[in-house]
Amino acid sequence: MLESHACVIGASRGIGLEFVRQVAAQPRIALVHAGCRDPGHADALVALAREQPKLRIIAIDVADEASIANACTAITASSPRLHLVVNTAGVLHDTTLGMQPEKRLVEVRSDTLAHAFAVNGAGPLLIAKHLEACIPTRERAIFASISAKVGSIGDNRLGGWYAYRASKAAQNMALKTLAIEWARSRRQAVVVALHPGTTDTDLSRPFQANVPQDKLFTTERCVRQLLGVIDRLQPADSGRFYGWDGSELPW
Ligand SMILES: NC(=O)c1ccc[n+]([C@@H]2O[C@H](COP(=O)([O-])OP(=O)(O)OC[C@H]3O[C@@H](n4cnc5c(N)ncnc54)[C@H](OP(=O)(O)O)[C@@H]3O)[C@@H](O)[C@H]2O)c1
Repeated sequence: MLESHACVIGASRGIGLEFVRQVAAQPRIALVHAGCRDPGHADALVALAREQPKLRIIAIDVADEASIANACTAITASSPRLHLVVNTAGVLHDTTLGMQPEKRLVEVRSDTLAHAFAVNGAGPLLIAKHLEACIPTRERAIFASISAKVGSIGDNRLGGWYAYRASKAAQNMALKTLAIEWARSRRQAVVVALHPGTTDTDLSRPFQANVPQDKLFTTERCVRQLLGVIDRLQPADSGRFYGWDGSELPW
């Protein structure tokens, strides 16, 4: 099998860090670009890079297009063709911004809404824009972004979490639209939104109390399952939203 280059964004911790670990361990993968906001504070990723020579750490803030452009220029320079891009960067809560998922309308704030839309909604699309030149036009390539089932409009029964739900729904629409464009220019490319299942990370930790133990995945299990879904993807699957078990989710 041909050697491939990969890129994982949101690599400092949680699901993204584990994606870097498991993707780099695949023999067919020659190089993994691991994008994170602040490499100086990404201790676990830096430690992984010391023992995994396939890793290249790169600074990228997905809420800042200039930062995305700089990172993607550097990635393109060493990887003219990328066969796997996984965006895991996402935000639900952020103590520095006083950002918490809203329980009621009165808690909605323009600044945290804008931040959620920048990271969760616009981020994946701007990454695609600046990496487009290295997505092969005639070979199988995967562009997967970790969305969330709570971003499904069809599945929304509980309400709440306005900024997160709406920004993930925006991500889903952006990915669907991208899939339509790339189906014309990159016929072997597969663009998908993926739901990881509830996974034990900083993001979910404050909300795990009512999650049964067998429904709370370790990052190792989460990523193993998602890589299984990714491995089975075909061009006809592009523009769809899949759960960790391979089931298709409603938009
Ligand atoms: N865990 C779950 O149960 C669950 C469920 C459904 C969906 N998801 C989705 O899965 C993805 C990964 O989440 P996780 O659970 O691994 O969360 P996490 O542990 O909180 O990690 C979030 C990652 O996103 C990065 N990030 C946030 N803002 C960024 C920015 N502006 N630029 C670059 N990177 C940024 C963080 O980097 P820093 O270290 O710099 O902050 C961190 O690496 C997210 O998109 C999340 O919405 C998770």
